[in-house]
Amino acid sequence: MEAVRSPNAERHEEDRDQIFQPLSFRSGLRVKNRLFRSSISGTFDEYNGHGTHARLNWEESFARGGIGAIISSFVPVTVRGRILPRYATIDDDDKIPFWREVGRRVHAHDCRFLLQLSHSGRQQDVGGVENLYRVARSSTSKKDYFHGILSQAMSRGEIGQIVQLFADGAERAQKAGLDGVELHGANGYLLTQFLSSGINDRVDEYGGGVEGRARFVLEIVRAIRKRVGSGFHLQMKINAVDHNSWLYPWEKAGNRLEETLKICTILEDDGAGVDAFHVSSGSTFPHPRNPPGDFPVGEAPLWYDVMLSSGVRTGLNQRIFKNRFLASLFRKFWLWRRGKVIEGINAEYARDIRNHVNVPVVCTGGFQHAHVIADVIRRGWCDGVTIARPLIANRDLPKILEQANGPEPSKECTYCNKCLLNDLENPLGCYELSRYDGATFEERYANMMRSVMSVFEPPAFGPKAESGPEPAAAEIAEKGRAR
Ligand SMILES: Cc1cc2nc3c(=O)[nH]c(=O)nc-3n(C[C@H](O)[C@H](O)[C@H](O)COP(=O)(O)O)c2cc1C
Ligand code: SF4
Repeated sequence: MEAVRSPNAERHEEDRDQIFQPLSFRSGLRVKNRLFRSSISGTFDEYNGHGTHARLNWEESFARGGIGAIISSFVPVTVRGRILPRYATIDDDDKIPFWREVGRRVHAHDCRFLLQLSHSGRQQDVGGVENLYRVARSSTSKKDYFHGILSQAMSRGEIGQIVQLFADGAERAQKAGLDGVELHGANGYLLTQFLSSGINDRVDEYGGGVEGRARFVLEIVRAIRKRVGSGFHLQMKINAVDHNSWLYPWEKAGNRLEETLKICTILEDDGAGVDAFHVSSGSTFPHPRNPPGDFPVGEAPLWYDVMLSSGVRTGLNQRIFKNRFLASLFRKFWLWRRGKVIEGINAEYARDIRNHVNVPVVCTGGFQHAHVIADVIRRGWCDGVTIARPLIANRDLPKILEQANGPEPSKECTYCNKCLLNDLENPLGCYELSRYDGATFEERYANMMRSVMSVFEPPAFGPKAESGPEPAAAEIAEKGRAR
């Protein structure tokens, strides 16, 4: 997006008014400000998909930091739709009590909670016990082109079952007292695999033109509405543009903006469909545009070995990451494809979608400064922004934005994407050493570890746990700041 005026005190007051005004949706959902925590997964949970105290602590820490609404992690509607084991799922009624507790914790801070209903399709990072001898299901039998994960096109019967699994998930989220759901229709997961002209090669009624490719998602939307009614918030994360050939120029480009606009109209379903769109771009995860930032090739081999048996191209990728010359070429290519803009990378796409649809639009991608966030809202490009990494870096970012244009420069998120790569093996947190205080490497490293581990406090058992969440959560915030 274009450069914005430099901030000053008077400007900051105007910015604050834009950002800290409530946002209402036709579903009845009302969010106290225009800041949403974007989905961030994290391997915090039990192997079988039951949530843990770490995830409760994690989600509550953002609510405490002043965010208006939280969009959960990637929450699989079935165990076969996981990207990795140890993500909390919504595949059974026995998961309802956990999500009810998450809602209770964040509601205590006047924060809303939307559960992201998800299915990996062929885009899986580490297949768990559920995938040992089975091939992933997708719209297509073509393998995923980044890692080479094998895939088999779903039958009509399987499509019907998955539609119902999404509806089951939405009904459970409603029973848990959450404030709504988001369909993960962006960044290469199962719904993208149906929507994208670059991936979906079906010749039945679920493929072909835009209407055929959108049929699966529309069936999900209708099935959810049938279960939960119109008063339960339902939004859709969608790629404005797929940019499916950006890493591999021989692949098809995928959906252009014009196609996405048609898909949005279909999913609005004459006012009976989705209540909002969440705009992203990039038909894989990760993608140079999402999360927009660096590709820390130097660290890639540290985590990529857990994926070696996942796909038929992972060995080749690992050889590239381990070879200094090839890794640096890969990184240069990645940065070139990303482009120069990080903060507000999808803002102009959000504008085009918002001009086309009749429901609010929120936008993801790099937001961390009040003047940029206020500017996109003031211009009417979107109604709110969603934030992921800058909130991992500073969980109290909303409180910071109330007072200032952004975090101190030394505490800003650098968009290094080390959080993303570590997520495969380590707890989610900020792994950018340069952001941590300390005179030596050892001191900074110790502070980083303390911050990353803070999500496990208070523990589930012992005197600290029994002292109750209030003082212990304050301690977490304190430790998070002691970088
Ligand atoms: C560690 C990590 C995990 C993420 N997990 C998800 C996810 O589960 N679902 C999703 O829709 N997006 C996920 N994203 C993408 C973010 O929601 C967000 O759209 C993207 O990072 C751009 O926003 P940001 O620049 O504010 O980080 C993830 C991003 C990161 C860094
Ligand atoms: S590791 Fe920290 S600084 Fe780097 S992108 Fe993630 S949150 Fe931002």
